Amino acid sequence: MSAAQIRAEDISVHFVGVKAVDGVDLTLGYGEILGLIGPNGAGKTTLVNALTGFQEPTGGRVFLDDVEITGWTPHAIGRRGLGRTFQGIRLFRELTAFENVELGALGVGASRKEARMLATELLERMHLRDRADQKAGSLPYGDERRIGLLRVLAMKPSFLLLDEPAAGMNEGESDDLTTAIGEIRNEFGCGVLVIEHDMRVIMGLCERIQVLDYGKTISLGTPAEVQRDPAVITAYLGTKRGASAAAAPELPEVPDAS
Ligand SMILES: Nc1ncnc2c1ncn2[C@@H]1O[C@H](COP(=O)(O)OP(=O)(O)OP(=O)(O)O)[C@@H](O)[C@H]1O
Ligand SMILES: [Mg+2]
Repeated sequence: MSAAQIRAEDISVHFVGVKAVDGVDLTLGYGEILGLIGPNGAGKTTLVNALTGFQEPTGGRVFLDDVEITGWTPHAIGRRGLGRTFQGIRLFRELTAFENVELGALGVGASRKEARMLATELLERMHLRDRADQKAGSLPYGDERRIGLLRVLAMKPSFLLLDEPAAGMNEGESDDLTTAIGEIRNEFGCGVLVIEHDMRVIMGLCERIQVLDYGKTISLGTPAEVQRDPAVITAYLGTKRGASAAAAPELPEVPDAS
């Protein structure tokens, strides 16, 4: 086994009446982009909660660079280099874009001066400097989501776990976001886990994709492999649930499987 990775072994999270996550293994290396997909309620958010200390797993162990972090607080895990975003969470709307990014750095113990320098640098690098002094609440939606990403990047994470970063974005915005996430990986070298229902984002970004359904991994492979896996097609077509195929997200053609 190599160091420099997140490794989760046999993770389960059981709530009363539902096995939200049921014996899932997951690895994510530095510099890698992994997609985590699956139908609504598959257990994606709960798995990320278990990795980041927001939900104590019923069973299993989580390692970060071969140090076991199971049971650590979210704060301790964040300081150790595991940064995450939350499904649907918004910025502090009364604070400026700059202040929102600064807060990320302050949250992991940076000094005011360090936080200010880092926020300046991040906004510059992500071509958002002209948004710095704008109240977050007045930003266009796509920019708000990108500032949200910078707030997590200001924690200088080794790993970035993104829960539906493109939710609510139009096609142009989600394409910009896809580009930005690719740039973040290239510039910061961090490992990225992306939960996303937008298959264009997933297929355009991820080297590997892990598919959950009913709390279990049903497929793991390259975008091309996952896309033609009958188990994935069945899960998405919802035949088990009797849902209509029209309600399932499209699994688009993979432009380039390499
Ligand atoms: N705190 C909780 N208590 C009880 N059940 C929960 C709790 N959190 C999640 N669940 C249930 O666990 C299952 C997995 O939920 P989860 O939110 O992880 O799915 P998801 O894959 O993120 O779905 P979505 O794509 O809709 O965000 C669902 O059946 C959900 O209702
Ligand atoms: Mg979710």
